[in-house]
Amino acid sequence: ALAFVLTAAAAYLLGSISSAVIFSRLFTGKDVRTQGSGNAGMTNVLRSSGKLPGILTAVGDVAKVAIAIVIGRLLFEYLGAADVSMDTRMLYATYLAGFCCTMGHLFPCYFGFKGGKGVLTTAGMILFVDWRIFLIVVAVFVVVLVLSRMVSLASVSAAVAYPLATFSMTYFLDYFSAPTHANFTMVVITTTIALVMGVIVIAKHRTNLVRIFRGEEKQIGAKKKEGE
Ligand code: G3P
Repeated sequence: ALAFVLTAAAAYLLGSISSAVIFSRLFTGKDVRTQGSGNAGMTNVLRSSGKLPGILTAVGDVAKVAIAIVIGRLLFEYLGAADVSMDTRMLYATYLAGFCCTMGHLFPCYFGFKGGKGVLTTAGMILFVDWRIFLIVVAVFVVVLVLSRMVSLASVSAAVAYPLATFSMTYFLDYFSAPTHANFTMVVITTTIALVMGVIVIAKHRTNLVRIFRGEEKQIGAKKKEGE
């Protein structure tokens, strides 16, 4: 229980460090949440503050989830339940840290609880969970981005692909190759978490989805209109 509480708290506090707000203020003096789409994320920093702050935002967001997961894994290694296998403890630590870090990113306690959409923090977490799932999700993101030139549509598509990829990989590959009760429980747990996080990311893109359906969503590389 101690490992759980400490991991959740550390991950939330780390996730609350909004690199988008920090780097946009640092480079332009303006809070990115008053610019462009108003979102505190890499895409909007790229759009409103420039390349370097945008790249630093991405690095910061992936770094904070990586640090949260490393801390969580150490806590679960030394303070976690001894009767649970180390593999299982590491997976729980990764999901818990990734989830709580993403919640901090969405609702940052140092920045008025107004944060980003959780795409990069979730992607960072997936990389630590399973590189096969990560590759599928990133491939979907890249293909949709290249075809549509809309980061939001690519993000939503990746969020849909994430639970599907999780189920396919854990059920058809892992469970079929070694069907044990413990493995099936894992399939259910990991797919449920993927579904919840996918839905959260999609829900954060509500206004983007409305713009996409109206044909008004901003595309990368598009010329800025007057007044933007
Ligand atoms: O990661 C957020 C991205 O999918 C959309 O950002 O600023 O276009 O709403 P934005």
